[in-house]
Amino acid sequence: MTDGEHARGMLLLGGSGSRLYPVTLAVNKHLLPVHDKPLAYYSLAVLMLAGVRRILLITRPQDRDAFQMLLGDGSHLGLQLEYAVQSQPRGIADAFRIGAEFIDRQPVALALGDNLFWGESLRSHLANAAARREGASVFGAKVVDAAGLGVVEIDADGRAVSIDEKPERPRSSIAVPGLYFYDSQVTEFAQQLQPSARGELEITDVNRMYLERDQLHVELLNDDVVWCDAGTPSTLQAAADLVRSIDERDGVKIGCVEEIAFRQEWITATQLDSLARRYENQYGEYLRAIAAA
Ligand code: DAU
Repeated sequence: MTDGEHARGMLLLGGSGSRLYPVTLAVNKHLLPVHDKPLAYYSLAVLMLAGVRRILLITRPQDRDAFQMLLGDGSHLGLQLEYAVQSQPRGIADAFRIGAEFIDRQPVALALGDNLFWGESLRSHLANAAARREGASVFGAKVVDAAGLGVVEIDADGRAVSIDEKPERPRSSIAVPGLYFYDSQVTEFAQQLQPSARGELEITDVNRMYLERDQLHVELLNDDVVWCDAGTPSTLQAAADLVRSIDERDGVKIGCVEEIAFRQEWITATQLDSLARRYENQYGEYLRAIAAA
């Protein structure tokens, strides 16, 4: 992170995961493996790459212990993790109500736990969004079919013109991925929200409030950045294929939170090495090699 903006972030790990039934009847979606690590690692990794260290994990009541077992208080990663529960899947923007005290009227980033990003220019996109002092920043990803997603339309100067949630007829082919950066107005805006026709507090309605004030920035992702929402059986499989192929082809692990903590200089080589020793497998060997380099 550049200069102290967006020191706080929230990671949403709730929802029913119904598009993955029966797989998610007994196991939370964000704990499912994507190649060699749980799905939740990938969105946590992106918050970390943006320099966010104080993170509120929002889970279903029945999953809280599992996430606590997975990530603890985050100190082994140089993070400060806190936990809150969402009793019902009331929508993504419910996070701002649940997290109001945590946010404490400061800027905050929000990541959806089923999104994965990868690419050379990701860091600079994240730095741009995290450093912006006013308004909201969303990302724009060009997709073939935007219909089942948040869709943003921009003008020739890159300014947001419209934003819609799962429109039947998308006004553009630019989808809005599940990673958002907000200024301190967001808590107030979330208080004003009404549930949508599908009964959810929509993140797109929050973004539209910023748009109406001419304060919605769209950071259009360069072509080298890959984004996936791993919410269905095929997208979950596609995400795993991507992670495995980069690992096998380039020897690089996407979403490796231990490595990111080390490269951000939040933990030392000795700390990384002791984390590595917990895993007697290829994951551990990868971390040990980094710690020894
Ligand atoms: O992935 C990007 C898309 O995510 C955006 O383009 C859309 O604008 C946004 O609404 C969202 O759409 P989805 O239909 O993919 O949202 P989904 O219901 O799958 O929830 C996304 C994540 O948030 C998922 O990891 C579960 C979590 N979640 C969701 C809801 C509704 C919660 O933790 N609590 C909730 O109440």
